[in-house]
Amino acid sequence: MQPAKEESDVQLYHVLGAKQFTRSALDEIFEISGSMERIVEKGGSDRYKNKVMTTLFFEPSTRTRLSFESAMSRLGGKVIGTENAAQFSSTIKGETLEDTIRVVSGYSDIIVMRHTEIGAAERAAAVATVPILNAGDGAGEHPTQALLDLYTIKKEIGRLDNLHVVMVGDLANGRTVHSLSYLLANYQNIHISFTAPENVQIPPYVKKYLDDKGITYEEEYDLTRAASTADVIYQTRIQKERFTSLDEYEKASGKYIIDAELLGVMRKKSIILHPLPRAGEISVQVDEDPRAAYFRQAQNGLYVRMALIEKCF
Ligand code: CP
Repeated sequence: MQPAKEESDVQLYHVLGAKQFTRSALDEIFEISGSMERIVEKGGSDRYKNKVMTTLFFEPSTRTRLSFESAMSRLGGKVIGTENAAQFSSTIKGETLEDTIRVVSGYSDIIVMRHTEIGAAERAAAVATVPILNAGDGAGEHPTQALLDLYTIKKEIGRLDNLHVVMVGDLANGRTVHSLSYLLANYQNIHISFTAPENVQIPPYVKKYLDDKGITYEEEYDLTRAASTADVIYQTRIQKERFTSLDEYEKASGKYIIDAELLGVMRKKSIILHPLPRAGEISVQVDEDPRAAYFRQAQNGLYVRMALIEKCF
């Protein structure tokens, strides 16, 4: 089945960061994501059978790479790529990112890239002749994750205005948190509680953006207090790989865990999200609770990434 091609005011080429999305662009992406759910249910489409996607991943990934690859396959396209580009591409021989992107642009119609360095997606976009989708740039941004996070909130809670969102964990290195904060700034009456160990607080540039957009927030060390009025608890992993010392990692690790006791203080209609992978910060006993939405969230990544491919083409 072919999704209907309609005229749209919202143009999308590169997806580099969450700040590029307006509320109307988000509405449209979420509408297309819904239609992609129906296309998947009906066995997919062959509309991009002549298109090729390259996935270039310089950092490990399960969800982002495989959901993009599945998204392209379910739209009939083909995928080429390398999952450990730092080792298995000519980067290891000293090729620059710019040269790699110039060359790969000639082999494919869209490039999905995850890189270790903040700003790598912008560097790639500056030389690419096809759309670049940022699948995570170091501790910078992860805009496609934030889109699927927001789509999940809309599906689960039924609204994107009037929300109290509690972001928990490694807020300094958590690129998904940065991107989600930027997207939430498109909505009305949003309040964010940032609950993080002292050495991994939300960066000042994220707070400045929220200030400029009139979004209220607080730094709240007491997770129980924040959770009791939350609509969404967005838990994140302490990113061991981004710490320069084990001592600093240990200071941040294990401080905030979502467990059965925390479920007891949460609202009945709230949800728990996590970009995954988790590393102990949500106890497995929580998984059976209907408010545990993180596996449904990961599934939504397929539909949202199909919608992004659709918009980029
Ligand atoms: N959420 C996310 O980016 O997961 P992966 O690292 O497995 O892609």
